[in-house]
Order: sequence, then structure tokens, then C-alpha cells
Amino acid sequence: MKAYQVTKPVGVDGLEMVELPEPRPARGEVMVAVRACALNYRDLGIVRGGYYRNDKQPVIPVSDMAGEIAEIGEDVAGFRAGDRVTASFVRDWITGPPDDAVLRTGFGGGVDGFLRQRVAVPAHCLVAIPPSMSFAQAATLPCAGVTAWHALTRAATHAGQTLLLLGTGGVSMFGLQLGRALGCRCIVTSSSDAKLERARGLGAAEVVNYKAEPEWQVAVRALTGGRGVDHVLEIGGAGTLARSIAATRVGGTISIIGLVARAEANPPVMPAALDCMTIQGVYVGSRAMLEELVAACTINRIEPVIDRVFDFADARAAYRHLASQAHVGKVVVALPGD
Ligand SMILES: NC(=O)c1ccc[n+]([C@@H]2O[C@H](COP(=O)([O-])OP(=O)(O)OC[C@H]3O[C@@H](n4cnc5c(N)ncnc54)[C@H](OP(=O)(O)O)[C@@H]3O)[C@@H](O)[C@H]2O)c1
Repeated sequence: MKAYQVTKPVGVDGLEMVELPEPRPARGEVMVAVRACALNYRDLGIVRGGYYRNDKQPVIPVSDMAGEIAEIGEDVAGFRAGDRVTASFVRDWITGPPDDAVLRTGFGGGVDGFLRQRVAVPAHCLVAIPPSMSFAQAATLPCAGVTAWHALTRAATHAGQTLLLLGTGGVSMFGLQLGRALGCRCIVTSSSDAKLERARGLGAAEVVNYKAEPEWQVAVRALTGGRGVDHVLEIGGAGTLARSIAATRVGGTISIIGLVARAEANPPVMPAALDCMTIQGVYVGSRAMLEELVAACTINRIEPVIDRVFDFADARAAYRHLASQAHVGKVVVALPGD
């Protein structure tokens, strides 16, 4: 069986294709033939090494997959050979709040992940994928999709609210599609007018180019009549947080998700206290949240936004495409069927 391994934390060049023994399902496990993997910003961090709680070395990378069950182990109920499935990002986070030990079972970082032809995994982490979705589409759900879903549902985001999405990457485009399904008015920022047009096509009510308007928080606030947005999915981190706080209404919510906009200085956070904001940390989510997301996508006919699909043999090129930030939505690696 072919698999990729991160053997040295030197970036994408440390990603090597290796030959590994065929996996066999142990008790409680199933063997899945992987058909598609979706990449996330985290996967760029894993090949560089030193990622918090994700320090297995060598490691088979990638947290997100969809595939077909090829073999069932003993004592597995609820699945059959041929079922189309995806897996929860954190292997052992089933429902409710997690603990540290559970969060150390993140696929593709804490434990081996899915950039391989076949994998044996505990059945408890699997979720059936909607018949309407291709393997490539379903592979995008576990990280970016669940993270956006977790942020929106935990903040009880609802119809009539205004949601701010930063950039047009994977999490933000799921935030846009789910925010629209919840009945929110969505504002999207991006470095590119062409990407903003794409966001409009996906339902963004308003768009702001953060390169053309470095003080984009002023433009966002003006778009809310001066009140501020109800909720920001903050994927930028220290480089955008102060502006996100400035764009948020009194009593609004900021979901701390990522760090793509790195900055040297610590952002001032006191304005969040003075304006009674809720700042919530979001780390992906549980299997229960993945099940909810699958249902929400099915009912609302949400089709995940896929920028480009690469062949398994070109996985390094897929990583480089993600790192270039030329994409909108998700970058996927497809594996051929048998
Ligand atoms: N906490 C969690 O559970 C969790 C889960 C998933 C992801 N994350 C984190 O969330 C972040 C986004 O992940 P992703 O997978 O969605 O990344 P991605 O698909 O690689 O998206 C990156 C996009 O971020 C936008 N961006 C870059 N600098 C920006 C800035 N200064 N202001 C606004 N937008 C900016 C760019 O959009 P434009 O090209 O349109 O400008 C870029 O294409 C990463 O830090 C990731 O590690 C965290």
C-alpha cells in the first residue's frame, strides 16, 4: 500500500511516498479504501513540525478523508462493506467537551492520518457521507466544515445576524455557506477582487478587499450602519484580531480559529472587555458535530467549494497550491478506485 509520510520537519520536501504493509481491521475497526483527502492550513504546519499536540514523527499526514469501507473487523455494528464514509478530525472526540488526551488523537498529527490508499480505523470515528456528495466534496467536511459549524452553533448564530468571514479559504467559505443557510447576512474580506466576486456568487451580501482597504474594519462597520457585526470567524489571529474586535458590535462574538495573518505585536484585547464581547476558542469539533454538519449540508443542499483536485501522485503540488493561497475554498487530493 502506498502512503505519504512526513519523515523530516523540513516543509513539503519532507513529504515522502513510502510502501507500507496492508492494514487489517482489528476488533472494533473497519478498513477504508481512501478515495479523497482534503488539505488544510494545519497540514502545512505538520510538514514544518512543532505543531502543538500534533508531534508524531514520522507521521502519515492529513486529517480529512472520504472513502469506501472495504472490510469490517469483529464487533463492529452499524457499518457494512461498500458504505461511503468520512472520519471525525479528532479520532476519539465523540461528543460533549473534550479533554487533553482526546485532543491528542487528531488524525494526521497526533495519530497517523489519511494520505494513503487504505487505512484501518476505529468505527467510532466514522460518519456516513451524504449520497449527494462526491468523495472529494465529503472529504472537505471534517476540519474546515466542522470548525465553521462549531463556531456558528456554539455562538447560537441565527437568522438576521451579520457574520464576518476573513479571506476565502476553507473555513471561511464553509462559514459563508453555513451562515447563509442559517439566514445570516455575510460579509467577506479578501486580498483579491476576483475571489470576492466568487464569494458574492456563493451568497456574500457585501465584500471588502483588505489589501485595497487596510483599515477594513472601518468599511465593515460602515456596512452595518455603524453598529458592528454579530460574529467574526477569526482565522487571522494576532494580525487581524484588533481589527476584528473593532468591527464587532457591543455584546458580539469572536471565534478564535486560526493564525494565517501572523504579526509580531500582541493585539490589544481590552476593547473586547469594554464592549462585553464573547471571545470563544474553537478547535475543530466532535463526531456529533460532524454528523450535524452532514445533516445541515444535506438539508440545505450545500456543495463544498473545491478549488482544485490533484492526483495522489501529485500530493506535494497540492500542498504547494494550498501554501500559495491562490485557492478559494478547498484543495483536494483524489485517489483512484480499485
Ligand atoms: N481552530 C481550528 O479548529 C481550526 C480549524 C481549521 C483551520 N484553522 C486555522 O484557521 C486558519 C484558516 O484555515 P484554512 O484551512 O481555512 O486556511 P486556507 O484555506 O489556507 O485559507 C487561507 C486564506 O486566508 C486568507 N488570509 C490570509 N491572510 C489574511 C489576512 N491578513 N486577512 C484576512 N484573510 C487572510 C487568504 O484569503 P484571500 O486569498 O481571500 O485573501 C487565504 O487564502 C489557519 O490558521 C488554520 O490553521 C483552525
